[in-house]
Amino acid sequence: MAGKRKLQHFAEMATFPHVFQPQLEDVFDKDYRLKGKWAADVFRNNHPIVLELGCGKGEYTVGMARQFPEKNFIGIDIKGARMWRGAKTALEEKLSNVAFLRSRIEFITACFGVNEIDEIWITFPDPQMKDRREKKRLTGPLFIERYKQFLKAEGAIHLKTDSDFFYQFSREECEKHAYAVIDFSEDLYGQDIHKMKNEMRSILKIQTHYEKLFMDKGHLIHYLKFKPHVKKGNKTK
Ligand SMILES: C[S@@+](CC[C@H](N)C(=O)[O-])C[C@H]1O[C@@H](n2cnc3c(N)ncnc32)[C@H](O)[C@@H]1O
Repeated sequence: MAGKRKLQHFAEMATFPHVFQPQLEDVFDKDYRLKGKWAADVFRNNHPIVLELGCGKGEYTVGMARQFPEKNFIGIDIKGARMWRGAKTALEEKLSNVAFLRSRIEFITACFGVNEIDEIWITFPDPQMKDRREKKRLTGPLFIERYKQFLKAEGAIHLKTDSDFFYQFSREECEKHAYAVIDFSEDLYGQDIHKMKNEMRSILKIQTHYEKLFMDKGHLIHYLKFKPHVKKGNKTK
């Protein structure tokens, strides 16, 4: 039964005008047709574009789009069944500033051009704790170098995670590569969220599917904001 529903959702998603599902041959060793053209061809405005990586059901993509109609949001994930939920909600709420891209994040430089993106959110990524999975970590150097190819010079990356391991790994990467750490919290919902400016607080209060699961288990939520474009004078280890 669940399988049948999944197939219905896949079929429905193929008809959604704001969902893009490139095939491997569209991104492997070549540029996707929308690279550098998201503003003109998808959103039809010049508003800033924010990405959510590993968006799952797209709670951040949709939640931020509701709060900031003057920005555009693109949720990226490889799992279509999860993405359907966010895509459907965006359609039902007539949110014209939302798109979804179903792709492996490994192909992200085929999808976005230089300076096309203003900000990136990484929400509850798989921590990839095994040494042999290190290259799969979304805040590892391989991925950050990819993001820098399309993220504006002042663009920030926001990470929300319950994983102590992934949080520490990301902090260490910031230090190692002299990324500028702008903000961090090891227990976001302890005291720290109350010290933040209203706008940031209302963004950080958005909770994802996985976040709720982890909070139910009593995990603390960690937050890190950093800018990966290194300026002269930033210290490295
Ligand atoms: C733990 S889930 C978190 C989902 C959502 N952000 C949340 O907080 O509920 C991690 C998500 O990242 C996606 N993901 C992991 N690695 C990916 C990759 N290399 N490319 C695309 N999606 C990926 C998975 O499909 C999954 O939906």
